[in-house]
Formats: sequence, structure tokens, C-alpha cells
Amino acid sequence: MSSDKRFLKALNREKLDRPPFWLMRQAGRYLPEYRQTRKDAGSFLDLCYSPKLAEEVTLQPLRRYDMDAAILFADILLIPDALGQPLAYKEGEGPVLDPVRSAKELSSFKLETLHNRLEPVYETVNRLSSSIPAHCSLIGFAGSPWTVATYMVEGKGSKDYVETKKWAYSDPEGFDQLIDLLVEATVQYLLKQIEAGAETVQLFDTWAGVLPDDKFERWVTKPTAKIVEKIRHIHPGFPIIGFPKGVGANLLSFVDKTGVTAVSLDTAQSLSWAAKEIQPKVVVQGNLDPILLVAGGDAMVDRIHHILKMLGEGPHIFNLGHGIIPQTPPENVAKLAETIKNWKA
Ligand code: CP3
Repeated sequence: MSSDKRFLKALNREKLDRPPFWLMRQAGRYLPEYRQTRKDAGSFLDLCYSPKLAEEVTLQPLRRYDMDAAILFADILLIPDALGQPLAYKEGEGPVLDPVRSAKELSSFKLETLHNRLEPVYETVNRLSSSIPAHCSLIGFAGSPWTVATYMVEGKGSKDYVETKKWAYSDPEGFDQLIDLLVEATVQYLLKQIEAGAETVQLFDTWAGVLPDDKFERWVTKPTAKIVEKIRHIHPGFPIIGFPKGVGANLLSFVDKTGVTAVSLDTAQSLSWAAKEIQPKVVVQGNLDPILLVAGGDAMVDRIHHILKMLGEGPHIFNLGHGIIPQTPPENVAKLAETIKNWKA
């Protein structure tokens, strides 16, 4: 892989004068222009499934801040929706699904209809592949099976994952069937994004950190390794970014066993440990606390400099430790962009 794009160079472990940057949830409610397009679309799902509008909101942050990468605008819960578990986003409540709680209920889910529902997302990727700036890379994404499963089983966001864990612990073979279905759906979904022009894909595993280590291996590491292997079987060497959030030192076995090209570090991850144990093996991405982006000022700038000092010699992609939150002042994002662009390795 050889490219003029800073982001792809970093994924290829090439030496750079400064790391590339992009921000998780860089398109979103902190931007007034997003709120306007979201209103025009009607609902959040209508926005995800309207190629023109989804393309527009993907491009909005790039016009302001000139990131090195754009991330497809969609959501990790489009897969359950496309499998036949209807999804709604309720104002102030987040996602709501009709919960699935046993293996026998899985027979109603159909892989055959997946692409039918997700076709507009591939169209968005296709449009973006020609409309993003030439120096900018296009990131596709999906949720990881474990995190998507938590929403499918709970039927909403959760703090303790009681229903999901209850099923997984008491009927692990049955729960494996849900994870296997999600592995297959995720591979098919990501392969279509890659065909449409995605230059890398990121797997979001927001709730990877709530499992004990044997189950982390079974429902996070192994399914991720399968997804990586199946994508690389079709596209050898394709760059894939993993984001198992909140897993601490288990990140090392995740890196060793999945074959990902890069990992995103969450806010709480130790920088000195990651520089020593992770960076020699894979590219690291991260990890400014999104709340420092709300606070701004010297606290934010000092921490950006510290992260760059610890990781910036590369291979490193600057990012947050989790997504931007709606309360973020847009001018703080401008300050972040300026701080990174003025830094020299
Ligand atoms: O990063 C980007 O800019 C690309 C788009 C993107 C969204 N969601 C848009 C979105 C991505 C990559 C995601 C990932 C996602 N979605 C995750 C994993 C990362 C993370 O944040 O932990 C998860 C767990 C979801 C599921 C989800 N989507 C929830 C729980 C919610 C409701 C909570 C919230 O933040 O509102 C969403 C809705 C959502 N997804 C919004 C956006 C911009 C806000 C919806 C709105 O505009 O009303």
C-alpha cells in the first residue's frame, strides 16, 4: 500500500512530520449545520438512509476543520434493523428495539434481506469516495458483534447488561449463534462498503470492557479475528482499526489474536504502557478525553501536547478516547485541529 494520503501513510507505519487526525462522532449534534440537516431529514434513521443527506453531514466537519479522514455517516444499529429487528430512535431515550432473548428467536432474522435495506449506505460511501477532498481518506465502519448484541438483547442502551449476560452465561452455545450471525452480517456489510470505496474500516466495540477475560476472548476477540480474516481473504492486507473500549491490559491479547492494523485507545488507557506494548505491534489511535474538548483552553492544549509527545513519533493517528458529545463548543475543535497541525515530530 502506497498513498499520498497522510492517514493511509500512518496506517502503513510510514514516518510523518505530524500524525493525521480525525474525531469519533465528528459529524453530529455539536454542529448547528448537522442539527439543521437532521431536522430536514425528519428522523435520525431517515438521515442514515438518505445518501445525499448522509453525504452532506459526513462532509460538514471537513469543511470547518480539514480532518485527514472522513467517517461514513451511519450507525452501528443499522445491522439489526436490516436483519429484521426494527429500530427507532426516541428523542432523549436513544435507540429502541424489540428485544431478542433466546436462540430460537433468531430464525426470524434474514441475512438475505440485509443488502436490500443497507443499499443506501453503500450509495453514501460511493458518493463520498468522489466528493471528499483528495488528501482525505474515507473510513467505513460497523459495530462489533458483542456491542451490537447488547442493544439487540436489552432492546435499548444499558448500564449493566443483565439480560445479555444472563443469556450469554446460561446458554453460551445459543448466544454464540447470535454472535455468529452478527459476524456474517458485519463481514457482508463491510465488504460492500469496501467495494463502494471505503479505504479502511473501524469496528466499534464500545462495551467490550464489561466482560470477564475468558468471555472477552470468546465474544470480542474471536469474532473480531473472524471478521478480520474474512475481509482479508477477499482483500489481502486491508487496513482494519479495532476499538475495544475499556479493556485495559486485555488490549494486548486482542492485538495479538485479531490481526487488526490499528487500535483506538480509550480515554483511560495508559499512554506509557500503550507506547511500550502496543505501538511496536500495531498503529495506535487516540485518545483525548472528549470532555477536555468541552472544557477547552490550556487544559485541552496541554493534554494534546502530552499525547503527541507520548505517541506522536508514530505510528499514531490522533483522535479522541470516545465520541464527541453534543455540548462541545465548535471553536474548541478548531483549536484542536490547529494544535495538531502546528506540532512537529
Ligand atoms: O463518528 C461519526 O461521525 C460517524 C457516525 C456514527 C454515529 N454513531 C452517528 C450517530 C458512528 C460511528 C456511531 C457509532 C455508534 N452508534 C456507537 C459506537 C461508538 C460509541 O459512541 O460508543 C454506538 C454505541 C452507537 C449507538 C447509538 N447511536 C446510540 C447509543 C445513540 C443514542 C445516543 C446519542 O449519542 O444520541 C445513537 C444515535 C447517533 N448515532 C447520533 C449520531 C450523530 C445522534 C442521533 C441524533 O442526531 O439525534
